[in-house]
Amino acid sequence: MSTSALELKDIYKSFDSGSKQVLDGLSFTVAENEFVSIIGPSGSGKTTLFQLIGGLEKPTSGEVWISGKPTTGSRGHIAYMPQQASLMPWRSVAANIELALQVAGVERKASGIAAREWLDRIGLLEYADSYPHVLSGGMQQRVSFLRALLSPQPLMLLDEPFGALDALTRQQMQRWLMEIWEQNKRSVLLVTHSIEEALLLSDRIMVLSSAPAVLLEEIEVPFARPRSPQLWKEPLFNELKQQIQDLLQ
Ligand SMILES: Nc1ncnc2c1ncn2[C@@H]1O[C@H](COP(=O)(O)OP(=O)(O)OP(=O)(O)O)[C@@H](O)[C@H]1O
Ligand SMILES: [Mg+2]
Repeated sequence: MSTSALELKDIYKSFDSGSKQVLDGLSFTVAENEFVSIIGPSGSGKTTLFQLIGGLEKPTSGEVWISGKPTTGSRGHIAYMPQQASLMPWRSVAANIELALQVAGVERKASGIAAREWLDRIGLLEYADSYPHVLSGGMQQRVSFLRALLSPQPLMLLDEPFGALDALTRQQMQRWLMEIWEQNKRSVLLVTHSIEEALLLSDRIMVLSSAPAVLLEEIEVPFARPRSPQLWKEPLFNELKQQIQDLLQ
């Protein structure tokens, strides 16, 4: 049996000495190289769940296992891409990528070459020597995603990575992320408020209730990969979208 990238075992979390119950017994797994999305109402506890998985918070009860090891309450086991790109403003774009590669164990000299190859692959080679503030929001998110992708931890957590982008840029980023991920598979857990985004990108979707959050439904997304950007035209896409919308009502 292969080990899961992530296993959550009956996670409960409350704040304010138990008076605020947020997570109410969550259990699910993310398989190796699987792309799983979490959808749930605002305030249902999604970011709290990420903080538990990342070890920044401890569950009231329950366990977090990453790559087959118990990691509850301990840090350093995940790659994290926050909602706002968090690049180091005093380092050039290339130097931001080089650092991620060096942290992953690539030697200094090789990291310089690899960083430029990666920037070329994501269409940003001409910005290699620029500083992050010169990039548009979408470009910064591409670099931020690349940094998470290149970091050594096998599990990536993406907390609404495209939430701050305009609709068109967001769509372009979704396609771009899908292509990069299909060529460089990693285990991903993505929080999103967009049902379309979840259907386009994921292998499975976890639908959470409002707080205290329980798993309402786990939906297998049956579309073959590589996925077409025209997926939304398929009847099954719209059926699943409706099903998730109904769950969230
Ligand atoms: N440190 C804390 N102390 C007290 N309450 C907290 C703390 N952190 C989170 N909460 C509460 O837990 C609940 C869930 O918050 P959380 O940020 O996890 O929701 P979310 O699902 O990520 O929402 P959104 O979709 O709006 O980002 C909220 O009611 C929030 O106020
Ligand atoms: Mg949140």
